[in-house]
Amino acid sequence: MARGGGAAAGVPRDDDPPRDVDAPLHDAPLGVALLGSTGSIGTQALDVLRSAGPERFRVVALAAGRDAATLGAQLHEVRPLVAALADPAAAAALDVPPGVTLDRDPDAMERFATRDDVDLVVVATGGIVSLRPVIAALRAGKVVATANKETLVAGGHLVMPLAAARAAERRAQGVTDPLGDPLGWVRPIDSEHSALWQCLVGERHADIQRLILTASGGPFRTWDAARLAAVTPRDALAHPTWDMGAKITIDSATLLNKGLEVIEACWLYDVAIDSIDVLVHPQSLVHSMVEFVDGSLKAQLGLPDMRIPIQYALTWPTRIAGPAPRLDLLTQDALRFEALDDARFPAVDLARTAFAAGPRATAALICADEVAVARFLDGTLSFPAITDLVAAAVTRFGDGAPPDVPALTELDREVRAWAATADVPESRTWA
Ligand SMILES: NC(=O)c1ccc[n+]([C@@H]2O[C@H](COP(=O)([O-])OP(=O)(O)OC[C@H]3O[C@@H](n4cnc5c(N)ncnc54)[C@H](OP(=O)(O)O)[C@@H]3O)[C@@H](O)[C@H]2O)c1
Repeated sequence: MARGGGAAAGVPRDDDPPRDVDAPLHDAPLGVALLGSTGSIGTQALDVLRSAGPERFRVVALAAGRDAATLGAQLHEVRPLVAALADPAAAAALDVPPGVTLDRDPDAMERFATRDDVDLVVVATGGIVSLRPVIAALRAGKVVATANKETLVAGGHLVMPLAAARAAERRAQGVTDPLGDPLGWVRPIDSEHSALWQCLVGERHADIQRLILTASGGPFRTWDAARLAAVTPRDALAHPTWDMGAKITIDSATLLNKGLEVIEACWLYDVAIDSIDVLVHPQSLVHSMVEFVDGSLKAQLGLPDMRIPIQYALTWPTRIAGPAPRLDLLTQDALRFEALDDARFPAVDLARTAFAAGPRATAALICADEVAVARFLDGTLSFPAITDLVAAAVTRFGDGAPPDVPALTELDREVRAWAATADVPESRTWA
C-alpha cells in the first residue's frame, strides 16, 4: 500500500534508560523560532514553551502578521532576540522592548528559520507564507514542527523530499537516532497527525493496513441540505469541541479541513490516499487511529487541547509533564462513531480528487479555500458555495506539472484573483 520510502516513525526503546520526566531534554536549551506567534496555535505554543521552561527551550524569534498589540505583549514577556510583523503599518506601531531587534525585511521569517542559534522552527501561521521559511529551515538542517496545513497540502512535494534527504544523510553517517526518520525533521502538530504518529511509534510501515482520521463532524453534522444552505458565519464559527482560529473553524464546518488532513497524512506517512478513511467522532476524544495488518487498532485519546500535540512535536521523542488538562474516561459518555455523509459534506471527496490530480490541484484547492472562506465570512458566498467555488478552482487551475516555489506563488496569486470575484458554479461537476 505504501508509495515507497516507508516513513512510519520508530524510536529505539529496548535500551532506553529510566527517565526523570522533569529533567531537561538536551544539554543546552533548544533555540526556537515561532512563526505565527499571535494566533490560536502560536499562543498555545507559547504556553507549552513557558511550561517546559527556559532550561529546555529558548525562544529566539517571534513572527506574526498584523496583531501588534499581542506581539508587543509577547515581546515584553518572552524577550526573544528578533521579531517581525509582516504588515508594515502594524510593525510601525509595535512596542519593541530593549534587547529585541525588529526585522522589517519581507524575508524576515526565512532569516529567523535559518539562524545559527535556532534549532527548531515552529510553524503556526496560516496560508502558504511559511513555505519558503520551511524549505529554507530544512535546507539549513533545522527541525520543523508544523501546525500549518498549507505547507504540506500545497508544498508536500517540495517539503517531504527534503525531510527524507535529511533523514537519509543521518543514516548514511551511521547515526541511529530519531532524526533518521523524516518525521524527526517535519513534525506534525495537527492533532490527528500527531495521533497517527503516536500510534505508529515502534511499528513497521509495512504493517499499516489503514489510517483512520477522526472528525468531530463540525457544528452541522446533523443538518439537512436545506438548513446547510442557510448557515451564517456566526453558526459556522461556533465549533462544538475545538477552540481554533476562524479559518480552520469554517474549514471544520465544511469538512474541507478533514480533506486537507487526508492530503497531509498521505505526505507525512507515505500511504496511498485510498488507505486513509475518515470516521465522524463527535466527542473529539479519539484523535485518530491506525489499523494494522493483523487487525489490531491503535488509537490516541486525550481532551481536545492542542497543547498536547504541540508539546509532543516539540519534545519528541521524549514526553514531559505539560499544561493541558487530563482526560478522565469515567466522566465521559460511551465513544460514538459515525460514517461521513459525503453527499452533505462533499469536501473530503473533493480533496481526494485534487490529490489524485497532483500538487497543482491541491495547491489550487487550498488557495481558493482561503478566499472562499473570507467571502463566506464577509457575506458574499453561501456556506455550500465555499466547497463549490473550491471545486471549480481545482478544475480550472489543477492541470500541469508540480509547481516549484515561484510557480506556487504565481498560482496562489492567480487563484486568489480569480476566486475573489468568481461566480459560484451551479453544479458540482467534479465529484
Ligand atoms: N487552531 C487550531 O487549533 C489548529 C489545529 C490544527 C492545525 N491548525 C493549522 O495551524 C495554522 C494556524 O492556525 P490558527 O488557527 O492558529 O490560525 P490563526 O489564529 O488565524 O493565526 C495565524 C497566525 O499567522 C500569523 N500570520 C498571518 N499572516 C502572516 C504573515 N504574512 N507573516 C507572518 N505571520 C502571519 C497571524 O498573525 P496576526 O494574528 O498577527 O495577523 C497569526 O499569528 C493553520 O494552517 C491551521 O489550519 C490550527
